[in-house]
Amino acid sequence: MSEAKMPTLDEISALAKRRGFVFPTSEIYGGLTSSYDYGPMGSELLKNIKDLWWKNFITLRSDMVGIDSQIMLHPQTWVASGHVGSFADPMVEDLITHKRFRADHLIEAFIEGKSEFSQLVVEDLTIDEMASFLSDNKVKSPDGNPLSEPKAFNLLFETQIGSVAGEKAKVYLRGETAQGIFSNFKQVLNSTRLQLPFGIGQVGKSFRNEITTGQFIFRTLEFEQGEIEYFFNPNQSNWEELFEKWQDDMMSFLTDTLGFKSENLRWRRHTDKERSFYSKDTYDIDFNFPFGWKELWGLAYRTDYDLKQHIQHSGEALDYTDPHTGEKIVPHVIEPAVGINRLVLAALINAYWFDEANNRTVLRLNPRLAPYKAAIFPLLKNKPELVAKAKEVFDKLAKKYAVTWDDRGNIGKRYLYQDEIGTPFCLTIDFESLEDEAVTVRNRDTTTQERIKIADLESYLANVLN
Ligand code: GAP
Repeated sequence: MSEAKMPTLDEISALAKRRGFVFPTSEIYGGLTSSYDYGPMGSELLKNIKDLWWKNFITLRSDMVGIDSQIMLHPQTWVASGHVGSFADPMVEDLITHKRFRADHLIEAFIEGKSEFSQLVVEDLTIDEMASFLSDNKVKSPDGNPLSEPKAFNLLFETQIGSVAGEKAKVYLRGETAQGIFSNFKQVLNSTRLQLPFGIGQVGKSFRNEITTGQFIFRTLEFEQGEIEYFFNPNQSNWEELFEKWQDDMMSFLTDTLGFKSENLRWRRHTDKERSFYSKDTYDIDFNFPFGWKELWGLAYRTDYDLKQHIQHSGEALDYTDPHTGEKIVPHVIEPAVGINRLVLAALINAYWFDEANNRTVLRLNPRLAPYKAAIFPLLKNKPELVAKAKEVFDKLAKKYAVTWDDRGNIGKRYLYQDEIGTPFCLTIDFESLEDEAVTVRNRDTTTQERIKIADLESYLANVLN
């Protein structure tokens, strides 16, 4: 099997559109900036990743529980968390076209490949330093026009509740799922029998008014996060040990559960200047995207900052009393926070393979991620006895697995389509099947074929999926 070359972002987005993974949102109206919909294959892939995240980090662990909080929380939540005051990116505007850009992104593009800037860490620059850099180096917009001074642009989306006749109140679409966890900390504690250390996880949509263009689903206005707040007593647990354990668990989820190649993953520690003021240590797992190494998953030790902020702003006692010692503390947290859509993008990049020997594009997705685990083909669609037997196979497998049906065109074309959507097995029901109660199973990666009894198909699939 030949080695996979890194695909371009164009190859990934073209395949994603062609095969129903990701479509530009509202394309019939000309699209909506940095917004994408997930088609038949993409929604299965997205769901598989979310389910695996939930199973791995919630279901399989005795020290974790899940919640599902609202997208619109009380607006004070975002004042307490600091988002209203300082959740901002440095924005510049093209003075001619009025298009907006991230100042740090323009600086990154400007210094790329220039050895005199090899020591510059863009993440460390303050807004004033960015302003000086842009003017000293006469950096222009991508359209070659002069730029405005950078200013802090708040990323929270605002909306209102209340009818026209009633009282209107400003609320925010959540900028992260994490705050719904902190604001429910006491309720979770009081309604369960959990003792520290324990974690609360949540998967759901977050919204950010991002100033960005052109990185497909990497950075979007609306996206899904899988976030965990792992609460502990700093007098009883060593944060460095917990942190390292989380690093291992995150990496093993990516490599062992999702099947990502480890050479495309690396840890990057935030510099002191870059790290949020409340965090004692922050690391990211970066993924090797076609546009460079970029953040996939963050891990931060946020201390007791968030709970203390909510105590101060709500007046509620969000503390924990140790049932054995009676010690009363405000727990500290370690936060692993991942973007599910970035995992989807990374999964597509990781799996993309042009098989030169067979002149075909294949998504070598881990079978757990594949939208369909098997495709069922009656050899000919105008032979009722073949169709009936194939339907029997479909109905049997569909009870346990996501499977698909294709009776269109020749078998070769059906294989090529399934290869591009990553279906690990194609099952053809032919005339012999009516005699021997077996089907031809063709393997996506090797293209080898073997004959398997219909009665053994479920265990055959179970072997590769568990
Ligand atoms: N609660 C911490 C937090 O939200 P973050 O680094 O801002 O931290 C966590 O976000 C993860 O969410 C990121 O590592 C990234 O995978 C994902 N993410 C953030 N902004 C995103 C966006 N605009 N589009 C897609 N994913 C995003």
